[in-house]
Amino acid sequence: MFDLPDDEILPLSREHVFWTWSAQAAVKPIAVKSAKGVHFWDVDGARYLDFNSMTMCVNIGHGDLRVIDAIVEQARRLPYTAPAMTNNVRALASRLVAEISPGAQLTKVLFTLGGADANENAIKLARGYTGRLKVLTRYRSYHGASAGALAATGDPRRVAWEPSVMPGVVHFLDPYRYRSTFHRTNPDIAETEFTKDYLNHLEEIIQYEGPETIAAILVESVTGTNGVIIPPDGYLAGIRSLCDRYGMLMIADEVMSGFGRTGRWFAVDHWDVVPDLMTMAKGLTSAYAPLGAVAMKPKIAAHFDEVPFRSGLTYTSHPISLAAAIANINVLRQDRLVEHAAAMGPVLRRMLNDLGEAHPSVGDVRSIGLFGIIELVRDRKTKEPMAPWNSSSPEMIAFRQYCLEHGLYLEVHWHTALIIPPLIISEEQLAEGFKTLDEALRITDKACKR
Ligand SMILES: Cc1ncc(COP(=O)(O)O)c(C=O)c1O
Repeated sequence: MFDLPDDEILPLSREHVFWTWSAQAAVKPIAVKSAKGVHFWDVDGARYLDFNSMTMCVNIGHGDLRVIDAIVEQARRLPYTAPAMTNNVRALASRLVAEISPGAQLTKVLFTLGGADANENAIKLARGYTGRLKVLTRYRSYHGASAGALAATGDPRRVAWEPSVMPGVVHFLDPYRYRSTFHRTNPDIAETEFTKDYLNHLEEIIQYEGPETIAAILVESVTGTNGVIIPPDGYLAGIRSLCDRYGMLMIADEVMSGFGRTGRWFAVDHWDVVPDLMTMAKGLTSAYAPLGAVAMKPKIAAHFDEVPFRSGLTYTSHPISLAAAIANINVLRQDRLVEHAAAMGPVLRRMLNDLGEAHPSVGDVRSIGLFGIIELVRDRKTKEPMAPWNSSSPEMIAFRQYCLEHGLYLEVHWHTALIIPPLIISEEQLAEGFKTLDEALRITDKACKR
């Protein structure tokens, strides 16, 4: 089907493809031929161990026939229905998402095409429900690349497109212990005090902005590309109670952290916090088909019982994507992959700690479940990053290149390396990838000042 000689794929792509997130001339695409389990192969036969689940999304691993067959079967039966229609997969997928949602309390589901429009719809729902405009989000966050989601984003991907077209977004600081603004002189502060300082900071901003103007606080439950920042105990519960106190809604962005990534169905489950709205994508179908969703408490949906929700998408609840979602969730359940991710959590943490002990360029490691990061520095004492903010460095480029050349695919973001493998990964496969990391870190070690 659609055959093209392997050696023509790259030249033809270079001629006609417009690449995202890149200067066109700088892109070095991998031409992928096949993928199975935790591996994929390029057209030259090179095998890569996938330490990034492609785009942090192939949670169940590659080439699972149970999902592929469901997609094929759905395409044969009924590939599409209009947004105001329903069918078996729309009913079943909504129920499944409701069942696995935190406390099974987010019982109404709006399906979107991906994470960005899930966040945009969540913001619209919150604005409609509260009648307020403002949305508070964090600086170290990414919420998607459509105009509104980008406005909500805190990181430099927003700055590139300013002025933002969506008014009313106010950013606040993240509880990022390794580089905590408030605790440079007392880095060993107790967790409860640390948490309190960041919640006080947030409440102060709420006061300055006027609580009566704020519709929602939108946060990644565990921050993704901006540093796998794991909230300290009490932090998400603190946001929950600030929302309740001031009549704001809590929106948890679980696009990257959801569907078992952290060792629970959703990251908020670690702290028993139930947001009012939760957005998801990526692991919802493990990227076998594009899909996002907003799950919400019934009171929010009920607000729109008489008031119309004035928004929509031609491809909302696309049956082929919903078939993928149902099959994917069934695989996560049947194969107990959420439990497996939880069991692998300490294994990944031990391997990360070992790297930290062996390499002076490792400044910090963090992980929760199979969601990990290595933060590389030139100097452990000053914490000078191995690449500047929003940039790269020859060492980081060489580090990633070494990994790729030795069959390890991973995401390098500024001065960090993300470890986000498919949830099916075994201890042996993790160890294989860490062996390559151990070798690659010699490159960054050489750049250390002490
Ligand atoms: C936390 C988070 N939210 C939202 C998005 C946007 O999702 P999408 O690329 O599907 O629009 C991403 C994508 O990486 C993400 O990591």
